[in-house]
Amino acid sequence: MQITMRICQSAIAALTVTVVFCSAAIAGNHEQKQQGINVGPGEMGFDAIIVNGPPITGDSVMSADHAEYPRGMTCAECHSVDFGIDVMSTASEQFVNNFPNLEQEQIWEKIVAFLPGRERFAIATVEDNAPTATTVDMVLDQEEKAFYVVSERGTEKLLQLRVNPNISAVRFAGWTVAEGGPKQWRSVQIKGTAEVIESTDPRFGNILDKYNLVRVSKPRAFRRFDIIKVTPKQIFYFDTTLGANKFSPYQIWRRAE
Ligand code: HEC
Repeated sequence: MQITMRICQSAIAALTVTVVFCSAAIAGNHEQKQQGINVGPGEMGFDAIIVNGPPITGDSVMSADHAEYPRGMTCAECHSVDFGIDVMSTASEQFVNNFPNLEQEQIWEKIVAFLPGRERFAIATVEDNAPTATTVDMVLDQEEKAFYVVSERGTEKLLQLRVNPNISAVRFAGWTVAEGGPKQWRSVQIKGTAEVIESTDPRFGNILDKYNLVRVSKPRAFRRFDIIKVTPKQIFYFDTTLGANKFSPYQIWRRAE
């Protein structure tokens, strides 16, 4: 009852919901379930209707008879959600756990379609527990299911990767304030490990051919570059259009052992 009261007060302040409505909500859970509080549309254009549920944890999964709710809402809008470290489930995994997933092969095809050539990524490397983010062009090798990056020798990320091969990389496309367009977003977030391949390595020349050098000739590339091979352990594919067919907008691809 206390929770309901609080929500009504804040709803009155923020949304000028009528007192009549609130007393109906306070009257009982049943009443509240039918009415809910309309807090307006999100980027998909559907109004969010708040109906408070019990506290849940990040790894909770809705039962089959959980009430349907408007597209674009998150669990946290109706539930207080404990994402504590011991729960070990993130907001993205919450979508994965609660909405249908594509087959691994289908997710891979979407990743490939999103990364057709030499694609600009932000990558993060770590030194002494502190991350550094830089930008690189990555090329997906579809056969090896690995990414290649050509990097000037001696860059900070190369120094860091030699000590700690853990790497994360992200590529994003979609609506921005400046560019506008439809409010849809896609991204690929990679977590994996990196190997530094020097030009003395017999693989170096072949990889350069796959990489599609655009700034310097091959002989120059041998003199000044190292290659980073990124082997993803896991890729989050995010695509807001998937929700239209009730799929989770977050899909996880995992490298088969
Ligand atoms: C629109 C509001 C709303 C949203 C969004 C929502 N829930 Fe709920 N949920 C409720 C309400 C209300 C109840 C209690 C229903 C009852 O008591 O009959 C509930 C109950 C539950 C329960 C316990 C009973 C059951 O049906 O499983 C779980 C678990 C749960 N929700 C998980 C989730 C998760 C996970 C998400 C997000 C993927 C989510 N809910 C999103 C409103 C919501």
